[in-house]
Amino acid sequence: MIDELVQRVRGRLRERPRVLIGIAGAPGAGKSTLAEALVDAIDPRRTESAWIPMDGFHLADVELDRLGRRGAKGAIDTFDAWGYLALLQRVRRETSHVVYAPSFERELEQPIAGAIPVLPSARLVVTEGNYLLDESEPWGEVRAALDEVWYLEVDDDARRRRLVERHMRFGKPPEAAVAWVLDVDEPNARRVAAGRHRAHLVVSAAGGSPPAG
Ligand SMILES: Nc1ncnc2c1ncn2[C@@H]1O[C@H](COP(=O)(O)OP(=O)(O)OP(=O)(O)O)[C@@H](O)[C@H]1O
Ligand SMILES: [Mg+2]
Repeated sequence: MIDELVQRVRGRLRERPRVLIGIAGAPGAGKSTLAEALVDAIDPRRTESAWIPMDGFHLADVELDRLGRRGAKGAIDTFDAWGYLALLQRVRRETSHVVYAPSFERELEQPIAGAIPVLPSARLVVTEGNYLLDESEPWGEVRAALDEVWYLEVDDDARRRRLVERHMRFGKPPEAAVAWVLDVDEPNARRVAAGRHRAHLVVSAAGGSPPAG
């Protein structure tokens, strides 16, 4: 699977000086893992690429508290969507200096500003997250700011199992981990799946194929 994707990205890199690829998918689909594998395959030294997680645009807890949305962290309205769009547009436009992106710190469950440099030499920028293919404003513009957005599809049972494991690894007791996956992650997963048909490419463990319909 990864080889085909690498070839596809290499083709894009022949077309323009900086290529922005998005990977969308449900919580726990493996988006971050795929983004990292792609960047590693194309630019192991990380001087000509950058990986920008949409997760860096999670709202901070202080703002989620103000909004009364702390318990919904991960829902579409708990991200700074316009900030993410503006950053992607800057990454497209501003190639003569470093553009800094925020990372998401899983121990803190909060973003950290200035953590990810997009160097002027970066030719490939991979960004990934849940809502890149959502149709609400401004996510349509996010899709338009990218050269391609892929939808990463995986078996839902395996995905949920991995999510529970990860919540536990980062400190949730087993029952709380299962409840979070069912009550918070799953509604988000359904919203993400509704954007599948807007993808330029659907990537599954079995290999890439054009989206149906
Ligand atoms: N192809 C794979 N096979 C088995 N496990 C995988 C695979 N890809 C990812 N994982 C595991 O599944 C979990 C979720 O992967 P990852 O963090 O890449 O997903 P994600 O889509 O970025 O999740 P999130 O939406 O929460 O950021 C991790 O524990 C990861 O190690
Ligand atoms: Mg991730």
